[in-house]
Amino acid sequence: MTYVIAEPCVDVLDKACIEECPVDCIYEGDRMLYIHPDECVDCGACEPVCPVEAIYYEDDVPEQWKDYTKANADFFEELGSPGGAAKVGKVSADPKMVRDLEPRGE
Ligand code: F3S
Ligand code: F3S
Repeated sequence: MTYVIAEPCVDVLDKACIEECPVDCIYEGDRMLYIHPDECVDCGACEPVCPVEAIYYEDDVPEQWKDYTKANADFFEELGSPGGAAKVGKVSADPKMVRDLEPRGE
């Protein structure tokens, strides 16, 4: 199992979650961040610090955001498992469903 970042992160990218992750498995895309499903150790440290409540345990992802479990996995299709986000930096690999979302206005 893994934790998943869902739609509330889109165009917000607060990044408070990154500071909490002991294994540096939260990676930055163009419009949101993604948790590596194999590198995540399910510690739960990231979940409470997100100011927009974008992070959920895989079993608890709200119904309307269920597709984000796959979106988090799909982000790593070409990237594979780098074993740490800091050295990778921002990657332009947002899945199509994220790229296609309307820009979020303030
Ligand atoms: Fe996004 Fe929340 Fe992290 S907005 S970058 S999931 S703290
Ligand atoms: Fe990292 Fe733990 Fe979240 S391993 S992605 S802080 S659940």
